[in-house]
Amino acid sequence: MKTFEKNGARIEVWRDLSEASARAAELFTQIALRSVDARSKFSVALSGGSTPKSLYTLLADDAAQKSLASVWPRSHVFWTDERCVPPSDPQSNYRMAQETLLAHVPVPEAQIYRMRGEDEPESAAKGYASLLETVFGTSAPRFDLILLGMGADAHTASIFPHSPLLKTADDAPLVAASFVEKLNAFRLTMTLHVLKSAANTIFLVSGKDKAEPLRKVFASVQRDEELPARWVRPTGGELVWLVDEGAARLLS
Ligand code: 6PG
Repeated sequence: MKTFEKNGARIEVWRDLSEASARAAELFTQIALRSVDARSKFSVALSGGSTPKSLYTLLADDAAQKSLASVWPRSHVFWTDERCVPPSDPQSNYRMAQETLLAHVPVPEAQIYRMRGEDEPESAAKGYASLLETVFGTSAPRFDLILLGMGADAHTASIFPHSPLLKTADDAPLVAASFVEKLNAFRLTMTLHVLKSAANTIFLVSGKDKAEPLRKVFASVQRDEELPARWVRPTGGELVWLVDEGAARLLS
């Protein structure tokens, strides 16, 4: 494993997705245990896509179950973003996390907060924003851990290149519905306010198709609207990028 610091982030390069996922599971466990120790609670926001499947599967295995036994009953599980589909749809980020992880661990159902992809997008976004405020008891929620991925177009959560969400005002909502032209579909997504304020943020990125966007994210000195992943700079939190050698091959 190679590790280096760049633009305020720690980048760890692992051989492949399976090694990077094992490291993500290790960090997840450390952060969760620390949070439960400190405040008897652990709040986490999960991402979708295909990359985190192996991490979620690892977190549900027997060894992780032992380490996280005290954590799950005290965990509050959210999503960074969701596709506008019902929870039973194969595209649903909730469904993927449910099948690979949540159905296998003792997290109370009342502490699993899915985005309602089946509802009208604007009202689903508003509903999720007020849910966040209620659960956190503040309009400035600070997650213990936010897990993110990055698309080959450098989008993260569901904030896509040139999205108006990159320019959200200080008092903008915590969650938004955004129409993604290239997908011809709505997505629900946490906005940068939330994504930037976690105590710990982990990006998990794998594959050669991510090499060029990853290079640009770390080469760019400005907050380029082509590179939404570049905009997630936690204010007062730890930022770690776990990447595999395929994705890292253009990093200098
Ligand atoms: C989603 C995500 C999204 C994802 C990236 C990477 O709903 O699609 O939350 O931001 O993290 O698109 O996806 P892959 O892991 O499939 O490349």
